[in-house]
Amino acid sequence: MKEKGKVYTIKVNKGGVGKTFLTVQLAVGLSLIGKKVLILTSDSQNNVLDYTAPQEHKPIFKNGLKAFVKGEDGDIVRIRENVNFIPLEDSKFASTFLNNLPIFIEKMKSDYDYILIDSIPTMKLDTIFVECSDKVIIPCFCDRVTVEGIINVVEEAGIDKIYSIVVNKYRNTANQNKYLEDLKSVLGETTILLPEPIKELSQIEILLEKGKSVWETNSKGLQEVQDSLIEVIKGM
Ligand SMILES: Nc1ncnc2c1ncn2[C@@H]1O[C@H](COP(=O)(O)OP(=O)(O)O)[C@@H](O)[C@H]1O
Ligand SMILES: [Mg+2]
Repeated sequence: MKEKGKVYTIKVNKGGVGKTFLTVQLAVGLSLIGKKVLILTSDSQNNVLDYTAPQEHKPIFKNGLKAFVKGEDGDIVRIRENVNFIPLEDSKFASTFLNNLPIFIEKMKSDYDYILIDSIPTMKLDTIFVECSDKVIIPCFCDRVTVEGIINVVEEAGIDKIYSIVVNKYRNTANQNKYLEDLKSVLGETTILLPEPIKELSQIEILLEKGKSVWETNSKGLQEVQDSLIEVIKGM
């Protein structure tokens, strides 16, 4: 029998840090090494669709996760070969949905090698996603507010659940370097993976705008980004 899929939630209690970006890059990266990946989300904005297709080809859907959990037919959006996405219809969650969600996730584990959850801090739903996850991946900026936000997630999820903290939108400034050094020294005493920071690059912005992943370009400047992501993928 096939091994059950592993579940990772990409989470931090702050917007704009790169949760959706990271989810998409990890998902496509895993698919390129032959893994079958499902992306779920607690964000009814479904930005995964924006980062994987140009605006004029953005897939439309009717029913998503809520329908599936009810046992009805939902839409599974195929965003790449071996990468599927189940969108979230809205952010109103009945208790039956919340109660039945873990059962649905458990079922999907038989069909996929990885389930990646692009989260936003929505009460309850996020808690359930984290409970259903093997591990949590935290994107972060190297600034005071975000480092504090990380401490929150570590406390919420428990340190043993944190697989990796990924510095994103990194700029080589004195201030960011200070927080990076702080992170390194704190994490050095743990098993949490801290890959090389992912820089803030205009090339990334351009790719996302076109709905392309960092794996779908020949640009030299993105080699480092790919290397950081490979560090993360290797241990997943
Ligand atoms: N390393 C990066 N370099 C440049 N732009 C980035 C980078 N990572 C993310 N972005 C941009 O930052 C914005 C927020 O990223 P997103 O993944 O949507 O954050 P979140 O899901 O945490 O709210 C997006 O517009 C995205 O294009
Ligand atoms: Mg997002």
